[in-house]
Amino acid sequence: MLDVNKIRKMFPIYDKNPDLVYLDSCATSLKPQRTLVKMEEYYTQYGVNVHRGVYKLSYKASDEYDIAREKIARFINSNFEEVIFTKNASNALNLIALTYGEKYLQEGDVVITSELEHHSSVLPWMRLCQKKKAILKYIPLNEEGRITVDSFKSILSDKVKVVALTYVSNVMGYITPIEKIIKLAHENKAVVIVDAAQAVTHMKVDVKALDVDFLAFSGHKMLGPMGIGVLYGKAKILNKLDPLEYGGDMNEEVTLNDVKVKDIPYRFEVGTPAIAEVIGLGEAVDILSGFGFDAIHEHTMKLKEYALEKLKKIKGIIIYNETAETPIISFNIEGVHPHDAATIFDNKDVALRAGHHCAQLITKWLKTTGTLRGSFYIYNDLHDADVFVQTAKEAVEFFNRFVGEKNE
Ligand code: ALA
Repeated sequence: MLDVNKIRKMFPIYDKNPDLVYLDSCATSLKPQRTLVKMEEYYTQYGVNVHRGVYKLSYKASDEYDIAREKIARFINSNFEEVIFTKNASNALNLIALTYGEKYLQEGDVVITSELEHHSSVLPWMRLCQKKKAILKYIPLNEEGRITVDSFKSILSDKVKVVALTYVSNVMGYITPIEKIIKLAHENKAVVIVDAAQAVTHMKVDVKALDVDFLAFSGHKMLGPMGIGVLYGKAKILNKLDPLEYGGDMNEEVTLNDVKVKDIPYRFEVGTPAIAEVIGLGEAVDILSGFGFDAIHEHTMKLKEYALEKLKKIKGIIIYNETAETPIISFNIEGVHPHDAATIFDNKDVALRAGHHCAQLITKWLKTTGTLRGSFYIYNDLHDADVFVQTAKEAVEFFNRFVGEKNE
């Protein structure tokens, strides 16, 4: 397993919160000092604008900014011009619906998605389908709540123009068989948009091997800063799309009646970008690559399996995703609202997420109002898993007592 004592020293939040049991990395990861230092270096040493100034500091800022884009491109095995910076994954997914979707989707076309989606993956297409009189179809989930290749095939037809799916569900932690789905979609001439926000933190994502058309993720879940996201798109498709927004830095030449826009990726990045955040994300991908995804997966899955085995034995706990391939446990305490249960965890400094996780469709599919979600990452250890399980036990006992008293 990873050396957590050493790793925790990389994360300054533990200095102020030594007892923190942070199990909410699916919402956002903790931030390593190296990411923060890299951002501070930008602001304190060369904090000027990029691609504009004709002076040394601006060249330095532009170089660091470009180096970061190059690193992020390599991280997902893509090319520099295919990496577009956005505010976050939601922003990236909207950008595709509002450019590609607006341009190509027509009345009667079908968009395939699923009930496992985060709202950001489904809502932009839902709105667009309403506007264009296109049809949104949901892949029937199997009894475990998974997307399968067969269920995808069951709704595939020549009317399908877009497939918008999550790579890893933020509630169930299941990995979508996306490679096979992409192949089938392409045989059918549909494009595939993948929400990889939860995938890039846990596994190697290779856009070329997947042959995916568009893929989105956020920086803040992968040891990077808030406010920066990435949209990957195949150059041959991006080159045919118009910008979503017009203004500074995205154009080559402006005349009284027209504008010549820049090549990709710049035509999709209007105004002064989030320079420190891009540079911080460049550092974050170096840190992740330094750990390696095999080690990250092995470490976090061991913790998850360890906690899951113990959690399963507690009477009164409902677990929704026992077979998940990622270190996410979604559960509830029988008869207790997840927000109420989460306060018990908070009393023990266990930070979990509770609610519908911006994925109401799967919450409804599970026939619940919300779930508790514990997610493990590189800075968690067996002690965290023990505190988590012990607190779950105490929470069940507390609510049993409480319900008992109420009924007396
Ligand atoms: N989408 C993030 C989550 O799953 C915020 O918690």
